[in-house]
Amino acid sequence: MDLLYVFLVLLSLSDGFSPNCAGRCSCDSTQSVQCYRLTELPAGIPSTTKKLYISHSKIQHLQLANFTRLLALEEFILLASGTETVENDTFKMLSTLKTLELWKNKIRRVPTVLPANLEVLKLNDNSIYVLQRSDFEGLRKLKVLELKNNLLSSLSHSMLSSLASLQSLMVDGNIIESVTGPMALPQLKHMSIENNNLHHIPGSFFTSLQSLQFLSFSGNFLTKIPVNLPKSLLTLKLERNRLKVVRLRDVKHLENLSHLYLSENFLSSIDGAQILANLTTLEASQNQLQMLPFRLPTRLQKLDCSNNLIQRVTAQDFLDLRDLKHLFLDNNIVSLFEAGALQRCSQLSNLALEQNLLLSIPLRLPETLARLDLKGNVIQDISERELKDLKQLQVLNLRNNKISALDLKALEGLPRLRHLYLDGNPWNCTCSLLRAREVLKAKGTDVKGGQCAAPAERQGESWMSSKKIMRQCEHHLHQAEKGKESKKKPKPEDFASLKISMDEDDDDYEID
Ligand SMILES: *[C@@H]1O[C@H](CO)[C@@H](O)[C@H](O)[C@H]1NC(C)=O
Ligand SMILES: *[C@@H]1O[C@H](CO)[C@@H](O)[C@H](O)[C@H]1NC(C)=O
Ligand SMILES: *[C@@H]1O[C@H](CO)[C@@H](O)[C@H](O)[C@H]1NC(C)=O
Ligand SMILES: *[C@@H]1O[C@H](CO)[C@@H](O)[C@H](O)[C@H]1NC(C)=O
Ligand SMILES: *[C@@H]1O[C@H](CO)[C@@H](O)[C@H](O)[C@H]1NC(C)=O
Repeated sequence: MDLLYVFLVLLSLSDGFSPNCAGRCSCDSTQSVQCYRLTELPAGIPSTTKKLYISHSKIQHLQLANFTRLLALEEFILLASGTETVENDTFKMLSTLKTLELWKNKIRRVPTVLPANLEVLKLNDNSIYVLQRSDFEGLRKLKVLELKNNLLSSLSHSMLSSLASLQSLMVDGNIIESVTGPMALPQLKHMSIENNNLHHIPGSFFTSLQSLQFLSFSGNFLTKIPVNLPKSLLTLKLERNRLKVVRLRDVKHLENLSHLYLSENFLSSIDGAQILANLTTLEASQNQLQMLPFRLPTRLQKLDCSNNLIQRVTAQDFLDLRDLKHLFLDNNIVSLFEAGALQRCSQLSNLALEQNLLLSIPLRLPETLARLDLKGNVIQDISERELKDLKQLQVLNLRNNKISALDLKALEGLPRLRHLYLDGNPWNCTCSLLRAREVLKAKGTDVKGGQCAAPAERQGESWMSSKKIMRQCEHHLHQAEKGKESKKKPKPEDFASLKISMDEDDDDYEID
């Protein structure tokens, strides 16, 4: 008997469970208990417990009797435990309960009757298929209600009408086809109905949502921006819908809107967003825009029009965007980029132009750029003229273009360059290219160089590291030095200013 006891104690210790707690549970204090791999609610949970956390168990049915002793409970979290049913009134007597979370179970109905002091109710990842008015009756203190990933097919105002204090409502990932209004939730700040089956939002839906700041209908089938959106909105998300046109006149009353997300729709143009005077972020990626949005709001800081069909970038498009910091125009068909088009954007730090049809680096880019991505264009040359002002540039991506030679001067003028991507270009590995390599190494720039396409005998060599080419160029160097001695006047193309220290293991050059 004693031995068995010792064995059991050791077993429980080795499992990390404290001996004075119920089996398979650990009590951080007498107020906080965590249990795993249970098959029923254990009898030994201290009645002083305020927080009870159970996960990865098999508790098919929750009963009222399980909780009659736990009258101090403030937080009950039951996660991934296969729970299917909850007996009526199970939580009713828990008058101090503030948080109830029953995540990742198989519950089909909201448990009845919930205690009046509840503030947080999370029933995500269950099989709840219907809500009733009585489900939330009396929950005047409820602030957070989450029902993500259930099987709800409708959301009507009457179901939620008792929730006078509700601040956050999330019903993402259901199959909601219809909503009715007016939603009388005067305190609601955050509402998310993403990834449902909504085709239409009735105008009356929003009339009593006067505090709403964040609203997301992303991932539905909406063809229009809903009408009568609350004036208080700061963020509106309508990504992954079926918007063909946005009539920004319909949203002009959203005077404080700062973030608008319209990516992955079917928009062919956006005009008149300047109505939204406080907009700082506009995302319209993956649409069918053939032109940049016309008349953009002057406070814009981030504009994402990547993955569209934009051909031209002109100064006209960016006239007043003095606050713009991030501009994403990658994956378009931009072939015309007017010189100085972004000159007025004196805060721009991030410019994405990868996967377009640019033949050269745009001229007179803003000096504030820290990151310039031109990967996957058809650029053939880089010149000093294009890069000389970019004193803040840290990352330059020219991968997968048609560049074969580097202008040494162009690179010398970039004092802060840290990362340079040059691979995927048809490098002509002349000795002067190797000279550029040494300039870059001396600057401490991290360079992805890629491989030589020419001359034939150097094809496939990595020009940033090839010792073979360097040896061949060393020969050139001696010749150049001889030439220098005889002529006394170095041509810019020779290697007079290069000193090579071959005794080092690595290929270290020094530049005078
Ligand atoms: C909790 O409920 C289960 C049935 O799911 C029952 O077997 C068990 O005895 C109950 N425990 C307590 C402490 O009431
Ligand atoms: C549980 O409550 C629901 C709704 O209040 C009621 O319809 C049902 O009959 C109750 N079930 C039992 C077993 O009392
Ligand atoms: C817009 O924001 C200002 C400043 O925060 C606030 O005073 C005003 O009430 C807001 N307008 C609306 C319609 O919520
Ligand atoms: C939004 O813009 C209006 C008018 O420009 C201004 O009065 C208001 O304070 C702005 N709100 C915020 C939150 O900046
Ligand atoms: C590589 O550069 C050399 C020297 O400038 C030139 O003669 C040659 O034609 C170039 N090769 C290619 C394929 O461009």
